[in-house]
Amino acid sequence: MQSNETSVDEEMTRRDFFSTAAMTVGLVLSLGTAAIYGLKYLVPGKKKIKYVDILVGNVGDLPDGASLEFLDGLGKKAILINNKGKISAFSKICTHLGCEVEWQADKKEFFCPCHKGHFNADGKNIAGPPPRPLDRYKVTVKDGNIYVSVREV
Ligand code: FES
Repeated sequence: MQSNETSVDEEMTRRDFFSTAAMTVGLVLSLGTAAIYGLKYLVPGKKKIKYVDILVGNVGDLPDGASLEFLDGLGKKAILINNKGKISAFSKICTHLGCEVEWQADKKEFFCPCHKGHFNADGKNIAGPPPRPLDRYKVTVKDGNIYVSVREV
């Protein structure tokens, strides 16, 4: 009789063990899934920035030395210049403290009136306090039309 009772106790113990193990595995999987989703929410993945070409003007409207202002995809002021046939586009925002730069065709450079910052026709900071070049846009000329690649909103 004694051995029969022991057998029932052992069976219950084995059943309890498997039940507890199954619950533990389920709990661990649930918490792991919740942790992964929680991390995705708290630390979003790197968003891929998309660019789109916008038509800004025509080569015929931009003779040597001329400039043309436009708004980029984020609504920021930008400028297109023709320097000896080389068409380039830059942000008008000075890299020092964010004032607006001016294109000086006679000197072939950009000037920031706030603290007398100077940038050459390639947007490189050449004098004054600006710490880095002007932000530059990719320009494509196709069939006489000038397209600038800007961030898609
Ligand atoms: S903001 Fe342009 S030089 Fe200071």
